[in-house]
Amino acid sequence: MIDIQKIRADFPILKTTVNGKPLVYLDNAATSQKPQVVIDSIVNYYSTINSNIHRGVHTLSQKATDAYEETRIKLQHHFNANKNYEIILTAGTTHSINIVATGFTSLLKKGDEIIVSTMEHHSNIVPWQMLCERTGAILKVIPMNFEGELLMDAYDNLLSNKTKLVFVNHVSNALGTINPIKEIIDKAHQVGAAVLIDGAQSCPHLKPDVQALDVDFYVASAHKLCGPTGVGVLYGKEDWLNKLPPYQGGGEMIKQVTFEKTTYADLPYKFEAGTPNIAGGIAFGAAIDYMNEIGFDNIAKYEDELLNYATKKLLQIEGLKIYGTAKNKTSVISFNIGDIHPFDIGSIIDKLGIAVRTGHHCAQPIMAFYNIPGTVRASFSFYNTFEEVDILYDALVRAKTMLS
Ligand code: ALA
Repeated sequence: MIDIQKIRADFPILKTTVNGKPLVYLDNAATSQKPQVVIDSIVNYYSTINSNIHRGVHTLSQKATDAYEETRIKLQHHFNANKNYEIILTAGTTHSINIVATGFTSLLKKGDEIIVSTMEHHSNIVPWQMLCERTGAILKVIPMNFEGELLMDAYDNLLSNKTKLVFVNHVSNALGTINPIKEIIDKAHQVGAAVLIDGAQSCPHLKPDVQALDVDFYVASAHKLCGPTGVGVLYGKEDWLNKLPPYQGGGEMIKQVTFEKTTYADLPYKFEAGTPNIAGGIAFGAAIDYMNEIGFDNIAKYEDELLNYATKKLLQIEGLKIYGTAKNKTSVISFNIGDIHPFDIGSIIDKLGIAVRTGHHCAQPIMAFYNIPGTVRASFSFYNTFEEVDILYDALVRAKTMLS
């Protein structure tokens, strides 16, 4: 059970006002707000153990290293990874994807095929296009239907022994669709292809089990999970991570350096060149603990109730059309009202203290599919309330009256 008032009290920003009105934060798919424990964890690191990690014999360095490495263990348990060194700490989902996409350059040849889906974020399209340019591989796209669900028959037809990689998001950032990733992974494995799942939008709502999924790579960002920006995770199966070359050269990722030849460090450090975001990494651990304490079953149940309530309520507004009506979706509502430009709606309701995202949501192919310039997107988290849905509804009615 979610104790909403207790939870809201954990987030200092939720007590603030914007444009003279109490903040109604409904842009959680862009980034989540941070509870006090996460903020404290950053302050504590800089106030008490600030030091570089994996380097010093001195006490502070060891304390900072232990705190940072603790996050790796927390993430290992959170994702149910087999080994802690299958967890690479990165700068975020985009960084994680680029490590894999760049690493595959030497493993692909001309004519190999890569499959993505229509509903990918640009960060799960552009790195693969760049990989295709480097290797001569061909990008294929799984289409979707009007509800925003992938056409699995079409996916079956795209798969062949030429398919080397499949990349699909677990949840669409623009539509909220939860994709059938287990089926996608199993089918890709039948033709010998590796699978990367972009978990940026799923991890705030559910807890993936990478071993049960048998996924090859799974990536996510801390900042959508109540953690800080500039930190993320790349889970990779040990065999795959050993096959991929390092992404960046530098300190920390080496075993031995001479001018003749450098040998690389073992996992996970081979992919962790340079001084990382230490405070952010430690705070990522605090965020994971915080969310697990609330419980992902409780989060999913509460957010589903919010989604159903908000969907019914917003559909009472004449002319409001929701994009993304998949049977299986998270708490994201993308919509337009008549032919009013999403930016105009976003600007008016901002004056009323409501934060939503407007535009193409870094998913232009989805907007092209629906033939629209963009949408207004309200994305809900476990700290949002039913009253906030009502405030959004009233604000949209007002905006519609002003703009019609
Ligand atoms: N990818 C983030 C979003 O969907 C930024 O808003």
